[in-house]
Amino acid sequence: MKGMILAGGLATRLRPLTLVTNKHLLPVYNKPMIYYSIESMMKAGIKEVLVSSSPDHAGDFTTLLKGGEDFGLRLYYAVQQNPKGGIANAIALAEEFAKEDTLLVILGDNIFNANKLKSAVEKFSQLKKGALVFGVRMPTESGQYGVIERSKDGKVLSIEEKPKTPKSDIAQTGIYLYDHRVFDFIRKLKPSARGELEVTDLNNFYLKEGSLSCEIIDWWIDAGTSYDELLRANNLVAEKVKNSEL
Ligand code: G1P
Repeated sequence: MKGMILAGGLATRLRPLTLVTNKHLLPVYNKPMIYYSIESMMKAGIKEVLVSSSPDHAGDFTTLLKGGEDFGLRLYYAVQQNPKGGIANAIALAEEFAKEDTLLVILGDNIFNANKLKSAVEKFSQLKKGALVFGVRMPTESGQYGVIERSKDGKVLSIEEKPKTPKSDIAQTGIYLYDHRVFDFIRKLKPSARGELEVTDLNNFYLKEGSLSCEIIDWWIDAGTSYDELLRANNLVAEKVKNSEL
């Protein structure tokens, strides 16, 4: 399996913090934000990871992360020319890199309990077909996240992007596993009302063919959504590090 970390975007919600600095390089407690997703890749046992970023900041990532030797994995880089293209548009950059392999995608501002990742990756590598999305139980009424309805055995029944009346308390995180057909599905996507190729629309292709499952993780934070979430991420990570949980 290959890995991909998405570190592009404009991060307008965090301005002026992100006017000069890429969001994924902002500090979260004692490390730049992107370190946490790289460490999650390490925990998952992924050895080759593609980092996608925006044209203005690509050099900052190579300066900081180099070839990945400090982390014991190999890093590759891609540039998302259209920073407003959306998550699925960025995933498309991994086509040549992933070839026929399966792909673990992590949004570079997601910090979470990655303990379940290795077993999920190993199971998925054997299956080689379908997609898996990681979800977390939390209040979903805020309309900030995709919402997943899931059966007891982990099959996804529905998935909606930021619904006004959520069907469940499971939020879609930014952690996904895909088979190699993901790139064919992305080619079929149309931009949403906000002009992006949505990851929820992509996941719905798998849902329609009955091959989308959902694994629940116990804590997760999207550090890039607001000043408050960034602050919460800093405090939560500090606590987890001090308790040796991260
Ligand atoms: C994206 C997805 C959403 C998901 C979220 C997780 O939202 O579209 O379904 O819950 O990431 O961080 P965005 O941050 O692009 O608004």
